Amino acid sequence: KYKIIMDTDPGIDDAAALSMALNEPQIDLRLITTVAGNVSLDKTTKNALTIVDFFNKDVPVAAGAKQPLIKPLEDASHVHGESGMAGYDFDAPTSKPLAKNAIEALRDEIMNSDEKIILVPTGSYTNIALLLSQYPEVKENIEKIICMGGSLGRGNMTSAAEFNMFTDPHAAKIMFNAGIPLVMVGLDVTLAGRITDETLAKINEMGRGGKMLHDILLCDFDRDETGTAVHDAQTIFYLLHPEAFETKDYWVDIITEGPANGETVADVRAAYHDGKTNAKVCLTVDKEAFNDWFVSVVRDHFE
Ligand code: BDR
Ligand code: CA
Repeated sequence: KYKIIMDTDPGIDDAAALSMALNEPQIDLRLITTVAGNVSLDKTTKNALTIVDFFNKDVPVAAGAKQPLIKPLEDASHVHGESGMAGYDFDAPTSKPLAKNAIEALRDEIMNSDEKIILVPTGSYTNIALLLSQYPEVKENIEKIICMGGSLGRGNMTSAAEFNMFTDPHAAKIMFNAGIPLVMVGLDVTLAGRITDETLAKINEMGRGGKMLHDILLCDFDRDETGTAVHDAQTIFYLLHPEAFETKDYWVDIITEGPANGETVADVRAAYHDGKTNAKVCLTVDKEAFNDWFVSVVRDHFE
């Protein structure tokens, strides 16, 4: 089993990623930590607890940073709805977040684990940066980071920057330069691998979990005539099926100032870093395989 921790800001596509990780039997989801991003921290924490309770799972949730390291927060409630998970009438969660904050919870879970942990951040990277700065010893026990964020092409927040990078570029820089193996599942790839309306129609017939995902994914504004971009769920797909992605190792710099703030610049000519790399960057995804996998998790593993 893959021992993972998800750091997340649900968010409709975060909720889809969590749903996959909570139910996929090859994954041992040890902890969920939350960060402000798509909506405020109170809401992302409530939403994470809502998804855990929806599936009757027993995975702890710890709340983390309310603000990016340096920049003010600009949320994305225009994309995910005021609640962050529009489209479905969820029961209010009865589970509570842990008493300790996300940074302490991350440290404890990583240091006490007998196997190395895989970190899967699908929000901005403020919690991860704080963790690495405060407790650098955790690096020894992190196998890799698989993050959703950045882009080799355009952005979605500005023409240059993808949302998670834009929200906290300083944190992204710390995470990318920590010396931990890192996989970047960027926006250019997640937009090319949409979940189709045919897939949504299929999962809608597959019980309450499938219907819930169908309803929220139809409400996501990151839709076009070919389907919904379920960005964050591709991290979980990568974890289980890296063979469905083409990748290339690059040094990726993150711009922290000016109009390109939050842009991820891959050193494609290997000109600046002596051939060294800090990230395995996804270049393509097999869209059909992603859709097939999505349906199969709902069909075979949702109760
Ligand atoms: C990313 O931004 C957020 O709105 C989504 O949840 C995803 O993590 C896509 O750019
Ligand atoms: Ca997210």
